Amino acid sequence: MVENRKPYKAFQARKEKLERQYSGDYEQKQHEKGKLTARERIDILFDKGSFHEIDAFVKPANQKKNLYGDGVICGFGTINGRQVMAFAQDFSIMGGSLGFVHAKKIQKVQELALKMGHPIIGLIDSGGARIQEGVASLAGYAGIFSNNVKSSGVIPQISVILGPAAGGAVYSPALTDFRFMVKNTSHMFVTGPQVVKEVLNEDVTFEDLGGADVHASVSGVADFVYNDEEHCLLGVKKLLSYLPSNNLERVAPKSKNVVEPKNPENISFVLPEDAGKPYDIVDVIERIVDSGSFFENAENHAQNIVTGFARLDGNSIGIIANQPKVMAGTLDINASRKAARFVRFCDSFNIPILVLEDVPGFMPGTNQEHNGIIMHGAKLLYAFAEATVPKITVIIRKAYGGAYIVMNSKGMGGDFNFAWPTAEVAVMGPEGAIKILNSKELAEAEDPEALKIQLVSDYKDNIANPFIAEEKGYIDEVIEPSKTREVLISAFTLLKNKVEQPSPRKHGNIPM
Ligand code: HXC
Repeated sequence: MVENRKPYKAFQARKEKLERQYSGDYEQKQHEKGKLTARERIDILFDKGSFHEIDAFVKPANQKKNLYGDGVICGFGTINGRQVMAFAQDFSIMGGSLGFVHAKKIQKVQELALKMGHPIIGLIDSGGARIQEGVASLAGYAGIFSNNVKSSGVIPQISVILGPAAGGAVYSPALTDFRFMVKNTSHMFVTGPQVVKEVLNEDVTFEDLGGADVHASVSGVADFVYNDEEHCLLGVKKLLSYLPSNNLERVAPKSKNVVEPKNPENISFVLPEDAGKPYDIVDVIERIVDSGSFFENAENHAQNIVTGFARLDGNSIGIIANQPKVMAGTLDINASRKAARFVRFCDSFNIPILVLEDVPGFMPGTNQEHNGIIMHGAKLLYAFAEATVPKITVIIRKAYGGAYIVMNSKGMGGDFNFAWPTAEVAVMGPEGAIKILNSKELAEAEDPEALKIQLVSDYKDNIANPFIAEEKGYIDEVIEPSKTREVLISAFTLLKNKVEQPSPRKHGNIPM
């Protein structure tokens, strides 16, 4: 019997030692900080008992403490029944810092995930490049970054920051598709507060420099933020449910439980009587998509545009929608970058795109111009024009000027372009237009205010409406607002087998 033999006993002793390593002191220290251990994180993420660890017993070349694993747990298992690969850094070994062996382990799972076509999830808890190992640890990061880029657009890559992500530890997440963070315990920075103090004599806390709130709102680095690790990891599982496993899978898994949205018939009541008044575009989204299915990303960054996944009749779609309640839905630098990246993700992974449009234009001003709205706005143009997935736009209200063009207009390759009767499609809004077209009459009028009201009304009747665009074929159909869901389900069904080959070339030159 194998179990009675010496090698088996050695095998058991090693396993027991490994178990001890992951409990006791380490567990207690992590819990005191409001964090979980690497093992506990894996247990929440994967289906019960499905995770297989590989390389659990590797050791770094010059380790004094004789511990296994070199600070990272690597392996594979299932999440909601689908194969996924993962690595989880273990802060107990030299602060989860990345040495050469640690890096090799991560590279091995990255390469397996890419070959097999499975999503990969990185659970980051790391002080960055392991200082003692010098250039070997830097080379380790280089190999990981290179693998991130090879996998980009082939398999979904998700990073979950569950502690520090310092120095080199930030750039792998930056090269992946989505970043999750936890309030108060996750911190991401290229250089920490100490270095900031030394170099710039600036006092800044971990939280203010690279906490979850800062990255979710100001920098836009974090896509999803949660109050605790457990909810964060459940969020990762939810995100995966909208995604195919790789770029060759034609569609993401279809949900079997389709729940109709509540009150779809009162969708048009969301729109205020006064076209100048704001409303919440999420109220429109929720009356179109399957009930409870909208999963917004980066909801606190560039809030003038809303991006996220949803299901329409059980099928996964990506939504990009202007948000009239924030800056009137104007497109600025951050909104353009946020939306462009989302469009490119959906296109990489065959997720059809729905655009809900209500946009008065690009944001004017020196701040925007000097910071490059020209190049950043062009990113969104580029992303929509290049995307070959099914693309549908519904113009709800405003669609003016360059912003009309950019939001997946017909000329940009929109497969179907619908509009509500309330749509205002024109080169510019009425106030701006009449100032240019009627300045003389307004200056000479006895009652300029009355004339202005009349001119605005004439402009809306004769120019800024969807009917001219419909007559010219730029709008395929002006639709009944209450029929929006029905129309979109039919149109996306028709587009299901769309084939459009990108032009043959090495790659385009995105205005990065
Ligand atoms: C080796 C490290 C380490 C590192 C932490 N440790 N970071 N060991 N290399 N980079 C070790 C500590 O010595 C300590 O060991 C243990 O991990 C826990 O660290 P503490 O400082 O006690 O923990 P805490 O107070 O929670 O602070 C965590 C931390 C801090 C914020 C991550 O350790 C820190 O600031 N570390 C350095 C971060 C950094 O600047 N990294 C950049 C590296 S340069 P003991 O034995 O005492 O338990 C880099 C360049 C690549 O990454 C750039 C590529 C683009």
